[in-house]
Amino acid sequence: MSETKYSGMAKNIESSRGKLGVLLPGMGAVSSTLIAGVFLVNTGHAKPIGSVTQMSRIRLGKRDNPQYPFIKDFVPLAALTDIEFGGWDIYEENCYQSALTCGVIDKQELDLVKDQLEKIRPWSAVFDPSFVKNLTGTNIKNAPNKMELAKLLIKDIESFKKEKNLERLVMCWCGSTEAYQDCMDDKAFQSLDEFESALENSLDLIPPSMIYAYAALKMGIPFANGSPNQTVDVPALVELSIKNNTPISGKDFKTGQTLMKTIVAPGLKSRMLGLDGWFSSNILGNRDGEVLDDPDSFRSKEVSKGSVLESILQDDLYPDLYGNYYHKIRIEYYPPRGDAKEGWDNIDIKGWLGQKMQLKINFLCRDSILAAPVVLDLVLFLDLAHRAGMRGVQEWLSFYFKSPQCRPDLKPVNSLFDQDEKLRNTLRIIMGEEVIDHSGLNYYENKG
Ligand SMILES: NC(=O)c1ccc[n+]([C@@H]2O[C@H](COP(=O)([O-])OP(=O)(O)OC[C@H]3O[C@@H](n4cnc5c(N)ncnc54)[C@H](O)[C@@H]3O)[C@@H](O)[C@H]2O)c1
Repeated sequence: MSETKYSGMAKNIESSRGKLGVLLPGMGAVSSTLIAGVFLVNTGHAKPIGSVTQMSRIRLGKRDNPQYPFIKDFVPLAALTDIEFGGWDIYEENCYQSALTCGVIDKQELDLVKDQLEKIRPWSAVFDPSFVKNLTGTNIKNAPNKMELAKLLIKDIESFKKEKNLERLVMCWCGSTEAYQDCMDDKAFQSLDEFESALENSLDLIPPSMIYAYAALKMGIPFANGSPNQTVDVPALVELSIKNNTPISGKDFKTGQTLMKTIVAPGLKSRMLGLDGWFSSNILGNRDGEVLDDPDSFRSKEVSKGSVLESILQDDLYPDLYGNYYHKIRIEYYPPRGDAKEGWDNIDIKGWLGQKMQLKINFLCRDSILAAPVVLDLVLFLDLAHRAGMRGVQEWLSFYFKSPQCRPDLKPVNSLFDQDEKLRNTLRIIMGEEVIDHSGLNYYENKG
């Protein structure tokens, strides 16, 4: 390995030995598919397809003498066999029952790991029906105020840590999408002090997801936000993550239609093809779809999906190509489809002399099958970042999100290819390896 200014980071990464606790608020389709998947992989019944940490190799060194180790062998990640899962839900179903209800993995396959799944029973949730209107459950905590609710979550985590003899923990929000709120400028969210007194006073504006994030960060546990909720976007919780040397990342797992959008749009842009309109519609019938049937929850999703094209196309720099495109997103709840979502994209583009063309994408995807490996990678990378001494917003994990969190004065990076490069170069930097810029110019130097 060559010495770089970041080499110290590689030398100081704490060991990945010992058990890693993965905390999942929300034990529905994504969580149960992740947990069952990890158990099936660990027992040799399946391969972790879709997981970059488990399946992908990374190039090190020059192209005339490259090495391609697996990422999991290059960076010290927790082993899948060292993971213990725990989580909360408003329903009392154990993880096996929840996986059956969600219907993502066949019963025959689930039965191979039934005993392990049945042992995972959700702890009672911190829940507020005004943020998720279409669900009702009974497995819910009560406390005199929101700070006390956070303390109850901390108690759950401490008992889990002790019971399972865990070395480290990571939390990833896999709970439902909460109603969108246009109030993040409220003074309660601007500093940790203000936020803590708002918790004591049970301020209505604080959604459950923020209470979970507060509990995690207070304990120095890295936090990822898989939903479009505004959870750790606010200055108060960013402040806490920095104060407690804890990495955070979000938001909204990039899985189906948005994944395709951030693959196709950068290609059109690279070739300077213009865009007149992009109409995206979806049908899905799982519980996530039911929650999104409420206009307030849908608004959160719409906001998170909507800004993706902007940063890729840079309409301010390319008004002739992208100055006036129409971007419309629809999600329709359609129960017969369950988790098997179908997305249609109609893309009106223009080429040489303004000639119009159309592109149609029909993606018949499996929502949670795409999301589960994303959660796995996020928890493993956040645990790595924590052990490498990284804290606050981890923009290098943008690769996994529809609406990547970054420094407020910067524009997020949404192109999947730029995000992929950022992630890989960050791993190289963490390990003290040279960054790869792909220019290739050095191969032609002094070759006369
Ligand atoms: N599946 C995907 O591809 C995908 C992609 C991007 C984002 N997401 C987001 O991931 C999240 C999970 O998706 P899913 O398909 O598993 O949904 P789901 O409805 O199957 O599961 C969510 C679970 O969270 C529980 N819940 C709601 N509020 C809670 C609270 N306050 N505390 C504890 N539990 C709570 C619900 O009871 C439910 O069981 C959603 O926010 C969704 O928008 C999913």
